[in-house]
Amino acid sequence: MDHFLSPKNMGVIEDADGVGEVGNPKCGDLMTIYIKIEDGKISDMKFKTLGCAAAIATSDMICEVAKGKSIDDALKITFQDIVDGLGSLPQVKVHCAGLAQEGLKAAVEDYRREN
Ligand code: FES
Repeated sequence: MDHFLSPKNMGVIEDADGVGEVGNPKCGDLMTIYIKIEDGKISDMKFKTLGCAAAIATSDMICEVAKGKSIDDALKITFQDIVDGLGSLPQVKVHCAGLAQEGLKAAVEDYRREN
């Protein structure tokens, strides 16, 4: 609930090195992930999410888990890593964590396309 009510990483990185926009057509939730890369590591990461409480909480948590990691290690973040960070996640909200993983992957693809 803390990560839904008071997310630390909500916002936009204006000079982001990579931006990933993803959505789930079934539930209609939309997520944009912004990453900043320094020395091959994710130095900053923010999100803008229009969606359910779990989509917001998982967006915030993937930012927490990914910051400071190398790009390759960040891409290895699992659903379980996100759930462990949050404490728990209802089974029906599993796809919200998947959307956060897709958002990060899309941001990295955008970064790699440009670099
Ligand atoms: Fe679809 Fe949360 S209900 S991302």
